[in-house]
Amino acid sequence: MGKLRVGFIGTGRKPVRAGPQGYGMAHQHASAYKSLSEECEIVACADISAENAQAFAEMWNVPASGVFVDVAEMLRTVQLDVVSVAVWPHLHAPLVIQAACAGVRAIHCEKPMADTWGACRLMAQECDRRGVRLTFNHQRRFGRPFRGAKKLLDEGVIGGLVRVEFGVGDLYDYGSHNFDMSSYFVGERPARWVMAQIDYRTENLVFGAHNENAAHATWQYDNGVYGVAATGAASGLVGCHNRIVGTEGEIEVGRRGEGIPVLRYRRFDSGRGWEAVDCGKEGLHGPGYIERALADVLRAVREGGESELCARHALNGTEVIFACWESARRRGRVDLPLTITDNPLQAMVASGQLNPGPRPAPAPARQ
Ligand SMILES: NC(=O)c1ccc[n+]([C@@H]2O[C@H](COP(=O)([O-])OP(=O)(O)OC[C@H]3O[C@@H](n4cnc5c(N)ncnc54)[C@H](O)[C@@H]3O)[C@@H](O)[C@H]2O)c1
Repeated sequence: MGKLRVGFIGTGRKPVRAGPQGYGMAHQHASAYKSLSEECEIVACADISAENAQAFAEMWNVPASGVFVDVAEMLRTVQLDVVSVAVWPHLHAPLVIQAACAGVRAIHCEKPMADTWGACRLMAQECDRRGVRLTFNHQRRFGRPFRGAKKLLDEGVIGGLVRVEFGVGDLYDYGSHNFDMSSYFVGERPARWVMAQIDYRTENLVFGAHNENAAHATWQYDNGVYGVAATGAASGLVGCHNRIVGTEGEIEVGRRGEGIPVLRYRRFDSGRGWEAVDCGKEGLHGPGYIERALADVLRAVREGGESELCARHALNGTEVIFACWESARRRGRVDLPLTITDNPLQAMVASGQLNPGPRPAPAPARQ
């Protein structure tokens, strides 16, 4: 088999200052594909901004004949095996489905899956029925702190699994990584029910999508394990990025504080207190996670089988995100599977049920 031919939908600007209005994630995918250059080559890119597409092409040596401002033209003109989709979430589903219909073999899409639960399911369904491998860039699964935590759990160091927790900024944009991580820790299980409340008083658009200001959520997986998430102002309730609680001990990833290692655990009866696990130079965000994620995606394309980042896994975590917002809308527990198709947070804003005000203007800079 020759090298896999890779194309891009959405190139981003080469990030000068990354943030919720643009990270240029395509450049990070491209860097990862370049590190896998024995297996693949970048042959095309499409972006509605000619300037972004051109800059991307120059940076990553995309031939001039492979640079497009029209996605349909790229998909029609260039034969592609793998497509990276790195646009904002509301465009994920339509562009993934467009690429799947064009006959590519695999699509690696940025997280969160899509902006409505219906769109998440539809993109997974349309890829599945066409035999297209759809994966999502929940790259943290490949980081040493997270893999190390899973290893401790699997080795029984903290006994049987009771609960997974996380405390971060939001349920959807950054939360997507953490619900995915929770599913990974629990063994890729779907949840059975979800109960949550949210606070949304100040508009918080991240890559064009609403995100609550604070939330508190509880859910239970079908194997009996509980989940707890606290976001925004409530995130201190959990007090670390991810916690795994077992019958005989607990594991923490990413507790802030002077001298606290990124991964640590304690056994309740050991008398030794917290013990550190060496993760080298790896932290919550990398380095090397996207390279390993794409290596796993390409392995699945070449050898068959599922990538860890497959849509089936992503759906487990994403269902809980939308169910949290649905629970807030219904003011009650939501039993799964989730049968709504919309985005409850977006719908509550549109109906006026939630009325987030503008962000306060930043304080003027000192002269
Ligand atoms: N995995 C991670 O850790 C991580 C981190 C940051 C962002 N993200 C995700 O990456 C995705 C992309 O975010 P970003 O910050 O890279 O965006 P960006 O704004 O940097 O780039 C998006 C690009 O899409 C282009 N575009 C818009 N509409 C298009 C269309 N119809 N066809 C083709 N191109 C189009 C824009 O011109 C722009 O160049 C988001 O879903 C975001 O949540 C993931």
